[in-house]
Amino acid sequence: MKRDMRLRGLSSEHHHALLLARSLLDRRGEWTPRDGAALLERMRVELEPHFRVEEELLLPALGAAGAMDLVQRTLEDHAFLRASAEEAARGSPQAAYALGERLHAHVRFEESEVFPACEALLAPEVLDEVGRRASSAH
Ligand SMILES: [Fe+2]
Ligand SMILES: [Fe+2]
Repeated sequence: MKRDMRLRGLSSEHHHALLLARSLLDRRGEWTPRDGAALLERMRVELEPHFRVEEELLLPALGAAGAMDLVQRTLEDHAFLRASAEEAARGSPQAAYALGERLHAHVRFEESEVFPACEALLAPEVLDEVGRRASSAH
């Protein structure tokens, strides 16, 4: 299915997130302090701004449209991803692996359920704002 133009910035960021997830899963326990620092930097520069567009624009609008289950699961995933990144940065290879798994599942969930619901339920003004925010983040 073709993604709404205004969600394509976020979708292309999902592609990068999948590559990050894959690289975390491929490490198989190899994890250094330097890897932890690099991961935190990617969280700050790539994932946090992306989460914020979702949390500030998409999720309130989805909640208002009645899709509370999607909102809830998205927020739980984001909380898990933030917490496991902090734990991985403190040196835990298990947390890095768990982050890779959850990030992969989270992107699949958003692409298959959250974004189609946004396309179906959100007002054009909300999608316009998402398009503006997502493209100005690059
Ligand atoms: Fe998300
Ligand atoms: Fe996302």
